[in-house]
Amino acid sequence: MATRPKKKHGVLALIFRRRSIRVFRDAKPSRSILELLVEAGQRAPCVYQSYTVISIERPELREKIYELTEDNIIRQAPILLLLCIDLRRTRMLFDLLEPEHTLSKPPNPIETVEAIFEAGLFAENLILAGEAIGYSSVILDWPLRLGLELQKILNIPGGVAPLFFICMGPPGEIPPIRPRMPLDLVLMSDSYREPKREQLQKYLDEASEKLAAEGYLLKYVGIRSTYRQYLAEKVRRDREMEVLEAETSEFLRRNGLTI
Ligand SMILES: Cc1cc2nc3c(=O)[nH]c(=O)nc-3n(C[C@H](O)[C@H](O)[C@H](O)COP(=O)(O)O)c2cc1C
Repeated sequence: MATRPKKKHGVLALIFRRRSIRVFRDAKPSRSILELLVEAGQRAPCVYQSYTVISIERPELREKIYELTEDNIIRQAPILLLLCIDLRRTRMLFDLLEPEHTLSKPPNPIETVEAIFEAGLFAENLILAGEAIGYSSVILDWPLRLGLELQKILNIPGGVAPLFFICMGPPGEIPPIRPRMPLDLVLMSDSYREPKREQLQKYLDEASEKLAAEGYLLKYVGIRSTYRQYLAEKVRRDREMEVLEAETSEFLRRNGLTI
């Protein structure tokens, strides 16, 4: 039976040292670097490749998006990519194959879930390719809240849904590796094991402790609360959250993500 290597080299080392970077050094990435990263993304397993990525380069476009988000990373990241689910192009592809096809009318739960999944694989491949050439990254979820505005600013037609920004560049900070759930909550053998409340409590406590030691929330969000409190606030269901969820659901549905 093959055993676990004692030392992590190559791709393994790269995967295990990756962490989100939110401060970048200045760089002027060439077109060929951008193409390499996106081609690496495309080598991920895929179904219909229902994703499109838009590199946001013109300073006036960056500025418009900055004004909406007030997120410095938007201005600062040498590479700013908008990852979109593009079932519009997939529909055009299917039109060439069959007059009546799965995307002729909604709902399209299988295509939608597969498109989101393959976009995630694309993103991680691209991110790891970045790591291999000294480019770190962070994903930002602003587009989930600004879909309509981004469609206007970047001339994105209906049927193409902005999902996430992927921001990349040489790292301008060296944060520690961030906590993850313990392996025994994630890896199960032969059947499902319900997590115990105490295990989840312990995870929340340990994650809070580790992130406090990094000064994570103070550094990136400018607040002094614990990670637990921050998470509680983030997931709290209030009226504002309900409106946002309803608007996002409607936007995604109108743009082809119909589950
Ligand atoms: C779908 C998704 C959305 C994310 N959105 C944001 C975001 O809006 N802002 C941010 O600072 N980080 C965001 N992140 C990065 C996570 O905060 C980060 O990956 C997580 O805290 C683990 O840290 P690590 O990547 O350093 O291991 C996002 C990550 C994912 C996968």
